[in-house]
Amino acid sequence: MEKTLVLVKPDAFKGRHTGDIIKIYEDAGLRLLAVRMMKMTKEVAAKHYEEHIGRPYYAELESFMTSGPIVAMVLAGDNAIAKVREINGKTDPKEAAEGTIRKLYAASKGENAVHASDSPESAAREIHIFFNESEIFD
Ligand code: PPS
Repeated sequence: MEKTLVLVKPDAFKGRHTGDIIKIYEDAGLRLLAVRMMKMTKEVAAKHYEEHIGRPYYAELESFMTSGPIVAMVLAGDNAIAKVREINGKTDPKEAAEGTIRKLYAASKGENAVHASDSPESAAREIHIFFNESEIFD
């Protein structure tokens, strides 16, 4: 069973889509192992998006991700990393397939409703930014 980190971003939280987003993952057979609502600090944003620091969009990304509450969660299942990214759709909602979370709820490449880990290494790193082992119910 593979684990992945998902963030419901401030736009989707504000739009009251959190419940629908969790339902989409659960209906796809994924299990919720941990969940937390929080406001991201600049420090947490820098840890989570460390490979993006210095990119032209980083200031915009940091400002957006710290602008309001987010919901962090750990999801698990067979092939969970790829499965969640397929359910989320492409980063840019204009390119996201019909029925994906980003097609349904995202407005732009920056304000794109959800984040999900892109590899087993990222998942292991990102999960522990948001959760201790004792908070993960697997
Ligand atoms: S890359 O270069 O392929 O790694 O970039 P990409 O996967 O397209 O995007 C990485 C994350 O940066 C966010 N992003 C932006 N935020 C704000 N403004 C702009 N212009 C912008 N472009 C990309 C994008 O939403 C990705 O966030 P996550 O949370 O990883 O989905």
